[in-house]
Amino acid sequence: MGRRMRKYLYILTVLGSLALGSLASCDSGPVDETIAYVPQEGRTVKVTGTFEGMDSWPGGYTVAVAGFSHASEYAVVAKNIAVGNGEVQTIMSGVSEEVTEVEVCVIDRLRVRVATFAVVENINELADDTIRLDVGTLDVGMFNTVQQSVFNANCIACHGMSNEAARGLYLTEGRSYDCLVDKQSSANPEYLLVNPGNSAESFLHLVLHDDGYLSHGHTDILSAKTELLNLIDDWIDNGAK
Ligand code: HEC
Repeated sequence: MGRRMRKYLYILTVLGSLALGSLASCDSGPVDETIAYVPQEGRTVKVTGTFEGMDSWPGGYTVAVAGFSHASEYAVVAKNIAVGNGEVQTIMSGVSEEVTEVEVCVIDRLRVRVATFAVVENINELADDTIRLDVGTLDVGMFNTVQQSVFNANCIACHGMSNEAARGLYLTEGRSYDCLVDKQSSANPEYLLVNPGNSAESFLHLVLHDDGYLSHGHTDILSAKTELLNLIDDWIDNGAK
């Protein structure tokens, strides 16, 4: 027998005894019924898809399957999307009646929805207790989330959708990154628009927080959406990748 073969056999034996060991420990001793069997009430959600950019998120954010109740921004239940190369399946069971819609989304550490990538609404009207959601290939990366949730939803009307972009700043998909990162502000050339690693010194941050830098009501745009202001800062402080 070759050395390599013996090595594999050894590994198999170790794995085998580990498996047997854990089986044995399940059988031995009295079983606490309250722990051994937890009935799963409620609906089950099965999400299938290929998720890109999962590793771009710093701590505090979760790419998740989550259930929300009516207009609330807080997730009632949430489960991390499985990590893996290629297509993965994530199963969340025990979804209560309180939940009216399920989403593939990003939530922050307060379980507040930061972005929605896919949604099934009015789940209580569905006949089947199992909800299947196949999302195909999704870019759930941090910068794409900034693009969708911040720029597309709040900025591009003036920054690139029409024939002219205010101050020449295009925040449209495909152009925003190159217009912002390490680029000098034209309104105040002392600053970079996005200074990677330093949100407090980035003009993008300043115009959204302080009226002293620009007119045109920039501080009002996201004032009711703290989670998006935090998302921008966290993206910049995490290196603006
Ligand atoms: C209603 C139109 C409008 C909307 C919406 C808008 N902007 Fe602006 N923005 C402007 C105008 C006009 C200027 C130029 C102001 C000036 O020169 O004083 C500007 C300038 C800027 C600048 C300075 C650019 C530079 O080079 O110095 C930044 C940064 C900026 N906007 C970011 C944003 C972001 C981020 C959003 C969305 C959250 C947004 N803006 C939404 C109109 C808008």
